[in-house]
Amino acid sequence: MPVFLCPFIKRLPFTQKMQYSQLSHFFSEISISPIKAIPVDAKHSLSVDIKRDDRLHSVVSGNKWRKLKYLLLFIESKGYKSVAAMGGPYSNFLHSLAFVSYCLGWKCHLYIRGYAEQELTPTLKDCCAWGAKITFVNRLQFREIRSCPPPLSEDTYWITEGGLSHYAMLGMEEVFMEVAGQYDYIISASATGTTIAGLAKAALRYQPKAQIIGISVLNNAQQQSDEVERLIGRKCKNWLIMKGFEQGGFAKSNESVTNFIANFENTHQIPLEPVYSGKSFLATQELADDGYFAPGARVLLLHCGGLQGKRS
Ligand SMILES: Cc1ncc(COP(=O)(O)O)c(C=O)c1O
Repeated sequence: MPVFLCPFIKRLPFTQKMQYSQLSHFFSEISISPIKAIPVDAKHSLSVDIKRDDRLHSVVSGNKWRKLKYLLLFIESKGYKSVAAMGGPYSNFLHSLAFVSYCLGWKCHLYIRGYAEQELTPTLKDCCAWGAKITFVNRLQFREIRSCPPPLSEDTYWITEGGLSHYAMLGMEEVFMEVAGQYDYIISASATGTTIAGLAKAALRYQPKAQIIGISVLNNAQQQSDEVERLIGRKCKNWLIMKGFEQGGFAKSNESVTNFIANFENTHQIPLEPVYSGKSFLATQELADDGYFAPGARVLLLHCGGLQGKRS
């Protein structure tokens, strides 16, 4: 396997390495994300609230923090000080993981889908600057480590792709602890399905009226549905993964997404990016235009962060 170990590890001015490997120190940097109400849309008689998880933290934003929190607490409780994970070269999840590892003084080894000579993306440059070791793996190797993790030292914990785990679902539950009132629809972008699984399971308790809608940003909605079902069981019926809003596929974009983002940012002063929030917000608009939501419905739209991806 080709190994690329970044030769430069910058000293970053904005954070001091924590003295104790205690994740809870990090918590003081994480706030409760605000909710922004979008003016009631008279045409559709809808009320739309945006849960600004992109504002949770300047780096570990959106569902990344939700998905990482309990997983990292578990890893820490087992005494590990080294983590390894896999993902794409623009992965928001790996970006957050590398940052938290840097803050905690943990080793972080990232297996990236790509090839050895490839130029580092802005995401990977950050990860390297935070001391992460990068190993590029080709598509075949990537598929292999998805089902069977690479050989790791005993003190290294392997994190499944995108953090997929029950710990990640537990973190998603906290979205509802920060929300007052009941919603009819709760919408988020969906890729692995973990976010939707966590929301759907927690909604049974906290938002029993709500339908949880995952807007698939990849052309594999069925696979995501299967994954959600595997995570929360068949009895839970309050969710669905919608296809048809992928705009060509993962990380592909087009003029309607670009125009929508520009218009939305201009009107509401909320930044979006084209891979996740741009598509899920546009999908919500299109569903409203098509009369999908019942008249007078209350919609909660989750902004899952990932704004670092905007640089690519
Ligand atoms: C910004 C953003 N939104 C949404 C998602 C989808 O989350 P999940 O993989 O849990 O479905 C991801 C992660 O993949 C993401 O980075």
